[in-house]
Amino acid sequence: MKGVIFDLDGVLCSTDEYHYRAWKALADSLGIPFDRTINSRLRGVSREESLEIILERAGRHYSAEEKREMFREKNELYRTFLSALSVEDLAPGAAKMLHELRRAGKKLAVGSSSRNAQFILEKLGIAGLFDAVADGNRIRRSKPDPEVFLLAAQLLHLKPEQCIVVEDAYSGIAAAKAGGFYAAAIGDAVTCPPADRRLERLDELVGLLC
Ligand code: BG6
Ligand code: MG
Repeated sequence: MKGVIFDLDGVLCSTDEYHYRAWKALADSLGIPFDRTINSRLRGVSREESLEIILERAGRHYSAEEKREMFREKNELYRTFLSALSVEDLAPGAAKMLHELRRAGKKLAVGSSSRNAQFILEKLGIAGLFDAVADGNRIRRSKPDPEVFLLAAQLLHLKPEQCIVVEDAYSGIAAAKAGGFYAAAIGDAVTCPPADRRLERLDELVGLLC
């Protein structure tokens, strides 16, 4: 394996919790039931698709303009949470693991559906450790479509079979497998059947790849 492609939210940091809180605030304000079980379906998917999933339980139809206002509101609150991010919000062992993989000559990329990815990487102080960032601003179809991982591999000048994808979402594992990648699951995704490998901690990647 020459390359490692990391999902961001829920893998390198716990911003998935902030997504949950921001969506929960929006759903509560609209009187729409929303809990962590529904939230797990939002992992890896775009903000537009996330809103559609939340609105499945709404008692009325919302116009495109109303939906745009909802994204804006949710993203504004989410960015307020993100503005307080720091290096301390990195997943345990993440910075050391990234440095060790780089030292071993591995190419590193981020493959995230988020349009806030670059901002998050900078807040976490790890933006400079990646050779490429494929994010929600550069793709048309979010996970489980493999587009974001295929773009990441292309930016690394590697083939999918030369890369391992690290994911915490079922949609992300499905995307990795659809693209022909080796898929390592962490967090919620460890129960996802098509994963090739299950990780308890990120630093297991060092023993696996170096
Ligand atoms: C993914 C998250 O990384 O990014 C999803 O797992 C989220 O939950 C998606 O909807 C889009 O994020 P953003 O930051 O562009 O709203
Ligand atoms: Mg994730």
